[in-house]
Amino acid sequence: MTPEVVCIASWNVDLIAQIGSPLLRGQTQLASTLERLPGGKGSNAAVAAARQGARVGLVARIGGDDFGQMGLDLWAREGIDSGHVRRAQGEVNGTALILVYPDGDNSIAIYPGAGSQLDAEQVEQARSMIASARLVMASCEVPLAATQAAFALARAHGVRTLLNPAPATALPDALWPLIDVLTPNEGELYQLAGQSDTDRDTDRAAAALLARGVGALVVTLGARGCRLYRAGHAPVAVAGHAVQVVDTIGAGDTFTGALAAALTRQEDWPQALASANAAAALSTQGRGAVAAMPTLEQVRRWRSRAV
Ligand code: RIB
Repeated sequence: MTPEVVCIASWNVDLIAQIGSPLLRGQTQLASTLERLPGGKGSNAAVAAARQGARVGLVARIGGDDFGQMGLDLWAREGIDSGHVRRAQGEVNGTALILVYPDGDNSIAIYPGAGSQLDAEQVEQARSMIASARLVMASCEVPLAATQAAFALARAHGVRTLLNPAPATALPDALWPLIDVLTPNEGELYQLAGQSDTDRDTDRAAAALLARGVGALVVTLGARGCRLYRAGHAPVAVAGHAVQVVDTIGAGDTFTGALAAALTRQEDWPQALASANAAAALSTQGRGAVAAMPTLEQVRRWRSRAV
């Protein structure tokens, strides 16, 4: 199969503990559950896109321990092309330590492991897969040099690019104009725009990022939906969904992957954003990042009932 969506992907094993309240500095709490589940913003978005019907390929670097096999098994089950996944024997896999609170919200600490050495050379080896794709996506969990190399290649071949700027980090000047679609949440938007806690303005922050060369900015707002900004167009708000949340792990990644799949299906912006909102809402109704990620059919059925 020729992948339509290529993900320059991080891979983590998520160690998820449920605790009673956000942990304070120096505090110890007993957790009520502990789970070891697949994660990583890149892998999560790739799985979300695959469940939404896109043919997906990965460029990733994983470690040699058993957790790497968990990733390979997941991608095989999801029909994701892992031909450009390199396994670094002797290196550990990315690991995310996740604390989940009673309202479903969480805090995450990530050790990127083998993924921290994903580089432009490995991206170059995937040149033909990238050149023949329709969309290339990444998050900020992989080295920015690898993302920039992939986006430059994509741009040279007329392939759309999508960056989920999570976790938010300063982006190189040369990367900004290579981004066709950027999907920050509100916190990431303010951080990227350099707005302080006391001086926050969504429209102004969005305008600042568009001025750096981004084609379209989609600010995700959780249950409030999202807002699309494009130069020369009025902002477009797309309503979200208030659902009973089990946990929000991977909801942003599900949004990104579902948006990638919808844009690849050539849905127009309002349709694509509505699909991504619905997929993200449904993904919060199960434990961990991938368990509740919906299929395209589930999103369509749910949307037809929700409206
Ligand atoms: O966005 C959720 C993801 O962030 C988790 O799966 C974890 O691995 C971290 O990458």
